[in-house]
Amino acid sequence: MSGCPFFTKLHPLKAKSSDIDDEDDSQKGINKAAKGGITYGDYLQLDKIVNAQVLQSELRGNKIHDEHLFIVTHQAYELWFKQILWELDSVRKIFIHNHVRDERNMLTVVSRIHRITMIFRLLVDQFAVLETMTALDFYDFREYLSSASGFQSLQFRLLENKIGVAENLRVPYNRRHYRDNFHGQESQALLQTEQERTLLQLVEQWLERTPGLEEDGFNFWGKLQVNVEEGFRSEKQKLEKMSDCETKQELLEDLSKQIELFNSLFDSKRHDHLLSKGERRLSYKALQGALMIYFYREEPRFQVPFQLLTNLMEVDVLMTKWRYNHVCMAHRMIGSKAGTGGSSGYHYLRSTVSDRYKVFVDLFNLATFLIPRAWVPKINRSIHKFPYTAECSDSSYSSCGSCSEED
Ligand code: HEM
Repeated sequence: MSGCPFFTKLHPLKAKSSDIDDEDDSQKGINKAAKGGITYGDYLQLDKIVNAQVLQSELRGNKIHDEHLFIVTHQAYELWFKQILWELDSVRKIFIHNHVRDERNMLTVVSRIHRITMIFRLLVDQFAVLETMTALDFYDFREYLSSASGFQSLQFRLLENKIGVAENLRVPYNRRHYRDNFHGQESQALLQTEQERTLLQLVEQWLERTPGLEEDGFNFWGKLQVNVEEGFRSEKQKLEKMSDCETKQELLEDLSKQIELFNSLFDSKRHDHLLSKGERRLSYKALQGALMIYFYREEPRFQVPFQLLTNLMEVDVLMTKWRYNHVCMAHRMIGSKAGTGGSSGYHYLRSTVSDRYKVFVDLFNLATFLIPRAWVPKINRSIHKFPYTAECSDSSYSSCGSCSEED
């Protein structure tokens, strides 16, 4: 018999338990809850969660309806921040313990980073629920928040630090270091994340090992430089053969800009200069690895690494969207008034929607250096095997199904 209620002879809503057919699949099962064991509420500790909404307005004898939504929204954000930190820490552990040398573990890394992007997507959209509250509704209870502010969200700062937001690139908070607003254990926890290896640094180390970069092997960078130079030389020759006209001049100028751009790519000193200014974040070798993954993304070897780079950019994009949606909402709610945490409010928040907070900025900029496919150094499959690092002799690397991340 089908489990679908519309297949029962009786109307499902009018059916009494005595009317239910013994053969009714929908009623087959064991009532386990009645036999004891952990319940739904106990398992999820719901007593703590659903009783944690204390309205300050109510405590002060002036219960404001929307304060409940305001609290629940923030709590939901904090729970999701917690899940992001959980995923992030697990990924960092896989990198720290070098389990990525076994490339089978890359799938776990990619799927967890992808999960983080999915959560961020939700967080970006979640502001819409809070935006059903009007500025006036917020005004009614804002005074009860006193000096409490999202600026004091420890988890938000931890996740920024763990991903790799650079301390020296942060917008100062009323001319002071962001950590000055945290004390005791919270301040310690933040300091620790500033000293630990960030996701950015771990990815950087991994990129530096991209197979094919070895100068005495495939020598991707050396080959690329030769191809690019040759490519531009023949472009220039073609242009010079054109009869003199305005377009020819424009094309030649355009070409010389392109050549200059690529000269800067192959100039390690210039890279170091940009690094010191915070305009590049990856080491020169890592940048080469990333570009290689971009160019050979269709090779089976580079497909998963390419997905990782794409997902990392997505994290940056979504964090920027989060900041943007948050500042728009704050503007709508408080105009240009100061924040409860003491900042200039909208103006401070607006200054955080910037590339200073983009961790994987180099991955975005790689698109500047795309070249015609014909210029990409050819792989000779019989010679350039790019041996899998998973094939290395150390048998202690295990696939993530069995590797203990707690090690
Ligand atoms: C009515 C809604 C909201 C308003 C008007 C608002 C306003 C502000 C303002 C003015 C600041 C700057 C610090 C200050 O002076 O207080 C701030 C910071 C912050 N808020 Fe909100 N906020 C709202 C909702 C939220 C929500 C739902 C979250 C979710 C967790 C959140 C998280 C944060 C975080 C993480 C910061 C620090 C941002 C940074 O420094 O980069 N806010 N908020």
